[in-house]
Amino acid sequence: MTTTQLNQLAHRIDTINAFSKGEIGQNRLVYSPTWIRAQQQVINWGLQLGFDVTVDDFGTTYMDIPGTVQPDQIIAAGSHIDTVAQGGRFDGLYGVLGGLQAIENLLESFGRPKKTLRLISFSEEEGSRFPDTFTGSKHYTGQPINLAMTDPNGVSFEDARRNAVAKLKITGVKSGRPELPSTFTELHIEQGPRLIDHHLQIGLVTSIVGQRRFTVTVKGIANHAGTTPMDERADALEMAVTLISDLRQQAHQLDKGLTFTVGEMHISPNTSNVIPGLVTFSIDTRHNNEAVLDQFEQIINQVVERSQDTNITNNVNRWAKSDVTHLDDQLLAANQDIANQLDFSSVQLASGAGHDSQIMAKVTRTTMIFVPSINGISHAPEENTSQEDLLRGVELLTESLHQQAY
Ligand code: GLV
Ligand code: MN
Ligand code: MN
Repeated sequence: MTTTQLNQLAHRIDTINAFSKGEIGQNRLVYSPTWIRAQQQVINWGLQLGFDVTVDDFGTTYMDIPGTVQPDQIIAAGSHIDTVAQGGRFDGLYGVLGGLQAIENLLESFGRPKKTLRLISFSEEEGSRFPDTFTGSKHYTGQPINLAMTDPNGVSFEDARRNAVAKLKITGVKSGRPELPSTFTELHIEQGPRLIDHHLQIGLVTSIVGQRRFTVTVKGIANHAGTTPMDERADALEMAVTLISDLRQQAHQLDKGLTFTVGEMHISPNTSNVIPGLVTFSIDTRHNNEAVLDQFEQIINQVVERSQDTNITNNVNRWAKSDVTHLDDQLLAANQDIANQLDFSSVQLASGAGHDSQIMAKVTRTTMIFVPSINGISHAPEENTSQEDLLRGVELLTESLHQQAY
């Protein structure tokens, strides 16, 4: 890749990240104004470069360079355009713009491909605004999605979706959900410390962990902080804290590799002199063995159920489940060969983060390429990757798409 190409990639990444300027980190929650601007920008770049651009009902964008010999064989690359709240500069975006750069490099060097090259910018992967994950790739692959969900402000998924997708109907853009590709490659930052700690340049992903997400609701009795005796309280927050501490300990006892995270909590009425009457909190738990996740789900249900008393009721709702996913061995081996030829140090590893590739792997041969995350930080404003590593990832992807589509 030339310096001009690298500068172009860096410029595009900066352009989209500048849409969250003045905020803490990146805030492209799905269908938000910043998300709309970002997806519009990706579409405009695609149109300028002569791609055939299609947008589906969920706002996922497909940008094609039709093949000259086997146009119905589609070699796809991409990732998601959304971020978590206060997220980083590369999670998702690198795979979208790195994919765009790889295809552009190929067009410049070799002209039109024999098979169709497709860049996909998925609408949503994070599950950070509405209680479902991977809705972009689930919609593309025909998996069920709960359309009746709302965000924490009460905005319905359907209203947000319709409003945002209408704004992507730019002149020259087709509407529809195109046929599935023959292969899908997702370029992504590692989001963990393994590559950087071992001074490795590339990660080739063998499998992706399964994850489950829950909301626990604790209902007590709101009452006066000064007049209610300590032994006559039904304090929902005290119960929530006990549950969290108990479950965290049980997760650790069950399996050291099981992750347990409470990242979201709502307290009502959230006032210093009122005993909390209602608390909800999230649980995100992940492992590379489905049986461990099943066992822990049972533990969550039992602990939550058994901790109730006459004045406090608890319930738990699982709203997301994705299975442990094994990615394509042949594509992995081919990428390993390319990494060796390019003299990039590499390792084959399992991903602890969730990815659209988990969903795509159910319907097509799928592979992932990781580049190092500085200090192993992700889902935070400090998320970063060196220019050299961004470049290596795109070079590997370019060669992989070259082998597949030309
Ligand atoms: C998505 O990035 C996830 O792993 O939560
Ligand atoms: Mn991601
Ligand atoms: Mn993420």
